[in-house]
Amino acid sequence: MVEVRRPDPEAIARAAALLRSGRLVAFPTETVYGLGADATNDAAVAALFRAKRRPAHNPLIVHLAEAAAAESFASFDERARRLVARFWPGPLTLVLPQRPGSPISRLATAGLDTVAVRVPAHPVALALLRAVARPIVAPSANRSGRVSPTRAQDVVAELGEAVALVLDGGPCAIGVESTVVDLSRPEDARILRPGGVTRDELEAILGPLAEPSRAEAEAPRAPGMLASHYAPRLPVRLDARSVAPDEALLAFGTNEPPGALWTFNLSPSGDLFEAARNLYRALRAADESGARAIAVVPIPKEGIGEAICDRLARAAAPRPDRSSAPEGV
Ligand code: TXA
Ligand code: MG
Repeated sequence: MVEVRRPDPEAIARAAALLRSGRLVAFPTETVYGLGADATNDAAVAALFRAKRRPAHNPLIVHLAEAAAAESFASFDERARRLVARFWPGPLTLVLPQRPGSPISRLATAGLDTVAVRVPAHPVALALLRAVARPIVAPSANRSGRVSPTRAQDVVAELGEAVALVLDGGPCAIGVESTVVDLSRPEDARILRPGGVTRDELEAILGPLAEPSRAEAEAPRAPGMLASHYAPRLPVRLDARSVAPDEALLAFGTNEPPGALWTFNLSPSGDLFEAARNLYRALRAADESGARAIAVVPIPKEGIGEAICDRLARAAAPRPDRSSAPEGV
């Protein structure tokens, strides 16, 4: 059995020691649970890709306890500094040029000349990062392509034995991943993945953001943007106006069409932050409901709703290699 512990100081010290010895440790962040590995250790990073069955071309986010710890390997321009001052610690990841001689494993960056960095806003994550005192890569602690974990028990269900230790910090407050912003080119800033920091919040600091070109949408620079991702086992149907008796329903606000086998209202009061917090738990529960498929009512694409709609679109995308059973691939 994988060891799950309350994040008391002793457990955090043990987790830090495990990470320093090249093992994998799952820990809570404010967005989702991450699966941590020492970003400077090739063997640890390789083990992380194996545990997640993640394609090697999909780079990882380097997590740090403070921005200063990234200065030696990532190059922050004036835009990056303004975003850091406003949003770190918090659900924002910056893709920045990587400095020559960077100690980050080339496996972690998939050989790119950029590096993604983030300082998470969760006391357990920060305590762990301080105790390790090394950069830590931490993708969401799920099998590649599957629904991200927002509770310790989800990590155990996803990864089991591959993890040396899971720190249980309770449910994640935000519930969708960090916003990934590409600042690697001085001429434009763009959102590679919508997330916990909204487009409006970013544009208030940076001005209007570039839209990805068609070529980029087809050959995405953030592989998290690939079509099928964040997928439950069951097929997902979006923008449902009505629901079949063998479907599980994800409702929102007062929009709760009758007749489903099973219903989960993401936020009865119509609060998009509550909906984001509940999204992945709801998809997991729907998988267990005995339904044939999952129907989801329209969700407003504003604020954090942009991230919710992005994840739902990927959950509903065709799954060419896996039919409707992504597990184990
Ligand atoms: O909220 C989060 O960001 C969570 C928690 C655990 O911190 N982590 C997370 O990591 O979502 P992951 O590995 O599931 O997603 C990382 C995303 C992917 O879409 C990846 O392609 C992108 O960041 N990414 C990483 N490095 C990149 C780079 N150098 N250039 C472009 N995209 C990059
Ligand atoms: Mg992920």
